[in-house]
This record gives sequence, structure tokens and C-alpha cells, in this order.
Amino acid sequence: MLICPICKNRLSRSTGAYICPQNHNFDISRRGYVNLLCSQSSKNHGDDKRMAIARRDFLNAGYYSRLRDSICSVITHGPALDICCGEGYYLEGITQKLAVCDPGSSACGIDISKSAIDAACRRKYNVETHLAVANCTDIPVQDGCISFAVSVFAPVSEQETKRILRQNGCLIRVVPGRDHLIELKRAVYEHAQLNPAFNNTLSGFELKSAHNLIYNMHLNSADDIKNLFVMTPYYYRTTQKDQQKLRLVPQLDVTAHFYIFVYKAV
Ligand SMILES: C[S@@+](CC[C@H](N)C(=O)[O-])C[C@H]1O[C@@H](n2cnc3c(N)ncnc32)[C@H](O)[C@@H]1O
Repeated sequence: MLICPICKNRLSRSTGAYICPQNHNFDISRRGYVNLLCSQSSKNHGDDKRMAIARRDFLNAGYYSRLRDSICSVITHGPALDICCGEGYYLEGITQKLAVCDPGSSACGIDISKSAIDAACRRKYNVETHLAVANCTDIPVQDGCISFAVSVFAPVSEQETKRILRQNGCLIRVVPGRDHLIELKRAVYEHAQLNPAFNNTLSGFELKSAHNLIYNMHLNSADDIKNLFVMTPYYYRTTQKDQQKLRLVPQLDVTAHFYIFVYKAV
């Protein structure tokens, strides 16, 4: 499934490394991922360690399990690719689903953040799974080999995603809905705004279905509230004074609102 980022030939996994027929060699880290980022000079390093750990702890508490179930209900067979997989929460669920519906298949997760992929290596995957540090604008995956690509709260490169999908392959894309986390924003900001309308057109893709998932989450600890805040971009755009406001909030009811779009490549 993975290809060499230099010559684009297929990579084979051997002990300790992925190797292509031209002998380009990529070490497998102690934790189990491979770094296939060609340019290390990119300014985009993705999520830092703090964000990745906050996301892992928040997701492990189960608040987004309904979203994970919704994504997995669309997937009927492999191979599957989680583009910008973060610390692997959805990928883990996807492999549990594949183990039931297509046990011989495989999965892959890529993310530009080493910290996120490192954390993803600690999850348990139920089918053969590859984890790589890579950019979603240059996905190190063979042309036309993926049945289901998934993108949750992440950038999408239309051309690259289309390239790696099989004929009739699907892209499942999740973006924040209008009311997503509005109460959290109100607890921090004086003028909290709803999310703007989302343009769901993707060039080279046909929208097959759009689903609105909205529910209340009762966050019952200051840690859960903090983790949710730290895993969002809001945290980094907020003054220290505003960040402190959440320390005084022991519990919070927060709306989770997701738009789930399923596309077919055309
Ligand atoms: C909001 S997080 C979502 C992570 C995961 N999909 C989830 O929902 O738990 C966005 C992720 O995209 C990654 N990312 C950002 N730009 C990227 C790029 N150009 N290529 C690959 N990953 C990228 C970040 O490192 C981060 O892990």
C-alpha cells in the first residue's frame, strides 16, 4: 500500500525498515511508524505533543464515540486510509470494523505530526495497519488502492485523495457543524460565534450523502473540559487570562455537532 516518497515505487516492509526496489530505505521507529516526509523544512508540523495527548485523553473518555460509530457504519470493506489520523482514535475503530467485515484487509494512517503518529502507535489495531508521518498533499500511498478514505477535522487535498481512491472508492469527511462546542466558546469568550456555513463541494467528487450528528455532552470533570479546549485551535488563539476562565468550571454541558459527508470520486 505505501510507496516510496522519492521514486514512488512500492515499499515493502521488512524487519526495521520499509524498502523500495531502488533501495531507498526508511527506518521504522521504535514505536512502529515510518517517516515518509520528504521535505522536513515544511513550516507545518501539525499538532504538537500537548494537543495530541489532550485529544487522546478526551477521545478515550468516549465523548465522540457516536461520531466514530457513524464513520465506521459507512465502511464496508478495506483497504482504508485515515488521512490526518491524529492519535489514531478513528483508525482504531475503523480496524475493529474491518476485522469483522473484511478481516484480510489492511489500513493506514498518516499525519504530518510526529507526536500524533507516535501516540497513534500506542493504539491497538485489529487488521494489518501502517502508520506514517506524511503530508496529505503528497500521500505516500499507491494510486487507486484505497476503498474508504477518512478525513476528520482535517485539511483535504482533492487531487491526492482522488488519486489514491479505487474506482467507486469513498471519502468520508467530517467537519464541525454550526453549533459545535458553542457552550465551551461562551465560557471563554465574550462574543462567542457559531461556526460559519460549510461549503461541501469538493472538486473531482460527487456528494453521495450528508448527515447531521448533534448531541449534548456532559463534561463531568475539569480535566475533560481542559482536554477538549487544548485539542482545539481556540486554545492557542486565546489569551492566558481567557484560558484561566475554564479553570473555574467543574462541569459543562457542551454541544457536539458534526457534518458527515460521504463522497464518491468521479
Ligand atoms: C484537528 S486534528 C484531527 C486529528 C484526527 N483526525 C482526529 O479527529 O482526532 C488535525 C490533524 O491534521 C494534522 N495535519 C495538519 N495538516 C496536515 C497535513 N498537511 N498533512 C497531514 N496531516 C496534517 C495535524 O497534525 C492533526 O493531527
